[in-house]
Amino acid sequence: MSSSLTVRRIAADQGETYRELRTASLREAPYAFGETLEEALSADAAKFDETAASYAVSDLSTSFILYTEGHPAGLICAFFEETPPHHAFVCELWVAPAVRHLRGGELLVNTASAWLAEQGAPEVYAWVADANRNAMRFYQRLGFGPAGEHAPSSRAPDEWQTLLVRRVRHENAALQG
Ligand SMILES: CC(C)(COP(=O)(O)OP(=O)(O)OC[C@H]1O[C@@H](n2cnc3c(N)ncnc32)[C@H](O)[C@@H]1OP(=O)(O)O)[C@@H](O)C(=O)NCCC(=O)NCCS
Repeated sequence: MSSSLTVRRIAADQGETYRELRTASLREAPYAFGETLEEALSADAAKFDETAASYAVSDLSTSFILYTEGHPAGLICAFFEETPPHHAFVCELWVAPAVRHLRGGELLVNTASAWLAEQGAPEVYAWVADANRNAMRFYQRLGFGPAGEHAPSSRAPDEWQTLLVRRVRHENAALQG
């Protein structure tokens, strides 16, 4: 990993940064997400401010931002489902093309997974579009495998997505045998 890449949890005043990263990701990689660029652009800026303020302190949902030399260059969200079984998910993963293949994506997934594990998640789930072969390979290399669910995309119902899962490695796993 390049030492210039760092990840930090979103701060309450980063609504504008969140909006910029989200719209950049939807513009650059529309095939990867359920939401559309139009939906993100039509949302009130205040909505991103509210989301950032909530993500900065919530125990149930958050975002992490990737920085290169201090500049925002990537994003991931992490959340628990509201309804039982309250599975933990990562979503909205995106790394700016200029800094890909430097393990920024891995750093984002591992940081978000560690946060979910701290909140008690035994495993972490991610929906990946079947056509997104890079993301599928990326997640598989990080130890994710099929969770057994396959569903149409909310953005394009004729496109399908697969649910992937990875067990969380708890730091005290060795003690538990
Ligand atoms: C998927 C995505 C987040 C990966 O980000 P990234 O920062 O490039 O991720 P990493 O650098 O950690 O790993 C990516 C690749 O580099 C490889 N890699 C990472 N570190 C490496 C190293 N030290 N040596 C060799 N290869 C390495 C990985 O194996 C992987 O290879 P692949 O792309 O050929 O499968 C990025 O491509 C992206 O934003 N894509 C568009 C949006 C998207 O698809 N999001 C996922 C939605 S489910």
